[in-house]
Amino acid sequence: MKKLIVANWKMNPKSFKEAEKLLLAVSKTKTTQHPVICPPFVYLPLLKTKLDLGAQDIFWQNSGPFTGQISPEMLKQFKVKYAIIGHSERRALGETDNEVNLKIKGAILNKITPILCVGYGLSAEMEDEEVMQHLQSQLEADLHEIDPKKVIVAYEPVWAISTGDPYKTKQMENPEHAERICMFVRIKFKVSKVLYGGSTNASNAESFLSRQIDGLLVGGASLNALEFNKMITTKI
Ligand code: 13P
Repeated sequence: MKKLIVANWKMNPKSFKEAEKLLLAVSKTKTTQHPVICPPFVYLPLLKTKLDLGAQDIFWQNSGPFTGQISPEMLKQFKVKYAIIGHSERRALGETDNEVNLKIKGAILNKITPILCVGYGLSAEMEDEEVMQHLQSQLEADLHEIDPKKVIVAYEPVWAISTGDPYKTKQMENPEHAERICMFVRIKFKVSKVLYGGSTNASNAESFLSRQIDGLLVGGASLNALEFNKMITTKI
């Protein structure tokens, strides 16, 4: 079964021209895995592609007096199938579990698959047990009154994001750690898929994808077409 490789472009690239060029270079690739591209909101309506698109956030209401928000119904018009929700970079700006919960509900109601990010606030020093306890309370709050089968979870330990090398940070055995935590989330919460994210790239993708991990949420490496193309053509 193909694994999901989700490109989270974050607030990049700086111009639409660059975004178009990047997407074109990725679209030409004959993939062995299932790529999803999540560009900034402003590029979504303008990008033409056969690849699946995702948003980096979503609001829970479909219209109304909510300045600056983007609704699920608006996103659907631009063929958005997925929405990243509760990314640690948003939680660091104040997004709460309650808001994350409402956003997941809004996405599901509108048939957009939520990619719920968990792992916020965890430290590299934590033992697996402690990580699991934190994730458990985060997931219980985020998934309150939600059918977990409709949700994809991405485990992104904050200490591994944007370091450029996931092996450098925690133990040398990071893919094993990632697999243990992903399996815990899948078994305990019965969500549809569990992805891993944090400094994954073309050189380490296989070490994660060959394990019981359903895919990757990729930041920095998704901005380099060569690098990302290697990831979406990983053979496992
Ligand atoms: P990096 O791959 O740049 O570490 O980012 C991970 C991430 O936050 C994806 O959502």
